[in-house]
Amino acid sequence: MSASRDSSIDVLIHPVGELATPYVDSGSAHGKQMGELRRVKDAAVAIRAGAIVAAGPAQSVLAEFRPTDNTVLVDATGKLVTPGLVDPHTHLIFAGNRANEFIMRCQGKKYLEIAAAGGGIVASMKATRSASLPELVRLGKSRLKNMLHTGTTTCEVKTGYGLDLESELRMLEAVVQLSALQPVELVPTFMPAHAVPPECDRATYVDQIITTMLPQVARQYLADSEGRLRDLFNDVFCDQGYFTVDETRRILEAGAKLGLKPKVHADEFANLGATSLAVELKAASADHLLNVSDAEIALLAQSDTVAVLLPGTSFFLNLSEHAPARKLIDSGAAVALGSDFNPGSCHIFSLPLIWGLSCMHLRMTPEEALTALTINAAYAVGRGDRLGQIRPGFQADIVIFAVGQLEEIPYNLGWNPVSMTLKRGEIVAEN
Ligand code: NIG
Ligand code: FE
Repeated sequence: MSASRDSSIDVLIHPVGELATPYVDSGSAHGKQMGELRRVKDAAVAIRAGAIVAAGPAQSVLAEFRPTDNTVLVDATGKLVTPGLVDPHTHLIFAGNRANEFIMRCQGKKYLEIAAAGGGIVASMKATRSASLPELVRLGKSRLKNMLHTGTTTCEVKTGYGLDLESELRMLEAVVQLSALQPVELVPTFMPAHAVPPECDRATYVDQIITTMLPQVARQYLADSEGRLRDLFNDVFCDQGYFTVDETRRILEAGAKLGLKPKVHADEFANLGATSLAVELKAASADHLLNVSDAEIALLAQSDTVAVLLPGTSFFLNLSEHAPARKLIDSGAAVALGSDFNPGSCHIFSLPLIWGLSCMHLRMTPEEALTALTINAAYAVGRGDRLGQIRPGFQADIVIFAVGQLEEIPYNLGWNPVSMTLKRGEIVAEN
């Protein structure tokens, strides 16, 4: 019997109240497609060797795949089953905290004012520079455990609190070690261009990134003989008070020549033209987009650059304006959602909470939000070919929600609706 006709399975999820998944043959889900889920009541999902082999109406799955004595049976009676959630934008690794800044903002201070007065990214840089590698790994591991319990199965992680070669490499090394230490799949992003460190002027720092840091990271991480990092992104905070469009272009082009794929923090506080640059450079994603222009929305709609929206950040910063998700989706862009988990502008990691905020503040539908947190987020981190859908051939990353209908996930705002998380077919969290 050939392997493809093998009817043995390692895991069977059955009964399933409802299966809900994006279902797109190739590429990310753009515009209207975002709301078009495959929804199957009384479903089953069959898993072998960490991959999905069948998913759909229970009758048809069970006709082909029967559990044996060795099959793990997962009962999702009355529950909702979706693909594992993908968080395409986090600053997971940092030491210390900035609770003081949160309270200052509650009392009316602005993020950029606090940063200009010595708080912000540089405050976290100081704490992170003085933390050892084992300490960064310990902090990251406990955060990732919490994420697994709220359904995150893949997580992008940026550097950017080191801001010198040695400390940025230590942050990247923490991501590599964490990949081997716990189940959440990590996508590393090198981001020395998160802020200018206080010991440097900006021109010198940009030159240092281009001539020293990027080449060193490429030597150490892209050409690793054990293939430890299969891909590496390069992100720049292109915004008022941070890096200009010209600097961003130079950093991203230098990285691309070495094999690092561009991403851009764009239009969070001001529109400098960062989204146009992201599309021009074929960036995997342009993130934040609170101040994106209509012309740039049209550019995004025609491109493969995913618009990553971060409603937790506008909420946590207590802003009255949010990213124009409706305009983006109605114009045909591919929108993803992320947490932006970080010590300053968004200390929120829960993607079910982000889901709720996306419905409230971005006016997304629950269906669009699921697409944004799965297939489109997977494309934003370059892994859409195997993550973000429940369909044969895809990795068996699955979340079982203790709710009967999709709408209850955003509605349960602030509760954790996750019942169980599976990564590559293994149960990795149960609530
Ligand atoms: O995405 N925008 C840049 N980086 C973070 C803020 C990081 C911080 O304040 O520490 C963000 O909002
Ligand atoms: Fe960010």
